[in-house]
Amino acid sequence: MRAHALIFLGAPGAGKGTQAREVAKHFGIPQISTGDILRDAVKKQTTLGLAAKAKMEAGELVPDEVVCGIVEERTNEADCRNGFILDGFPRTTAQAQFVDRMLAERDQGRAQVLDIEVDEELLLKRLTGRRTCAVCGEIYNIYFNPPKVEGICDKDGGKLLQRADDNEATIRQRFEAYHKQTAPLIEYYQAQGVLFPVDGNKQPEAIAKGLVEFLSKA
Ligand code: AP5
Repeated sequence: MRAHALIFLGAPGAGKGTQAREVAKHFGIPQISTGDILRDAVKKQTTLGLAAKAKMEAGELVPDEVVCGIVEERTNEADCRNGFILDGFPRTTAQAQFVDRMLAERDQGRAQVLDIEVDEELLLKRLTGRRTCAVCGEIYNIYFNPPKVEGICDKDGGKLLQRADDNEATIRQRFEAYHKQTAPLIEYYQAQGVLFPVDGNKQPEAIAKGLVEFLSKA
C-alpha cells in the first residue's frame, strides 16, 4: 500500500466501518472513525460529547472545527506512523481541504479515497438492522449478517447494541446531510485522480478481498 492515508467515503450504511475494520486488520494500521470517537465522548459525557450529542441525535454534522481537531490529534499518535484509515471523515469540502493541508504539512502525500457505492433502497435496511458489539465493536446485521445467538456477539459474548441514530427519522436526516454536504467530495477527489469506486452491493467478504487486492497494488 503506497498511500499513507486511506479515506472511506460513502452514504450512511454503505459499509465504511465494516470494510475499514477489515482493511485495517490486513495492513496493521489503525481505523479512525470520527463517528466512533464522538459516540464514545457522548457515552463518557465529556465536553466534546456534550457538544456533539444534539447534532448526532438530529442526524446533522458536528461542526468542522470539532472533527478536524479530533483527527489532527488522533493521527499524531504513534500508531499512525505507518499509515491510517479515516472512516467517515472528511464529510465536507472544508474537512477535505483540511486533510489535504495536514498531509502536505507532514509530507505524507495524497490520500487514496475509496468510495463505497450502494443502491439507496438497501441502505435503510442496513441501518435499521445494524447491531454492534458493546465490547469489541464487531458489526452485525439482523437481516444480512445475524449473530449465531440473538443479541450476543459471536466473538466475545458481548451484548449487541443498536445505535441511537439508527431510527428511521434520524436516518432520513443523515441521508440529507450526506447528499448536501458529503456527496460533492466525490467530484473533489475525482478531480485529484485519487478516487476508487467500490461496488458496495456485494457480500462484505468479496468487497474486502477486492479492496485488499487493489490496495496491495496501488
Ligand atoms: P458515523 O458513525 O460515521 O455514521 P455514518 O456515516 O452515518 O455511517 P455508518 O456508521 O452509519 O455506516 P457505515 O458506512 O460505517 O456502515 P457499516 O459498516 O456500519 O457518524 C455518525 C454521526 O456522527 C454523524 O451523523 C454526525 O453527526 C457525526 N459525525 C461523524 N463523523 C463526522 C464528520 N466527519 N463531520 C461531522 N460530523 C460527523 O454497515 C451498516 C450495516 O450494514 C451493518 O449492519 C453491516 O453489518 C451491514 N453491511 C455492511 N456491509 C454490507 C454488505 N456488503 N452487505 C450486507 N450488509 C452489509
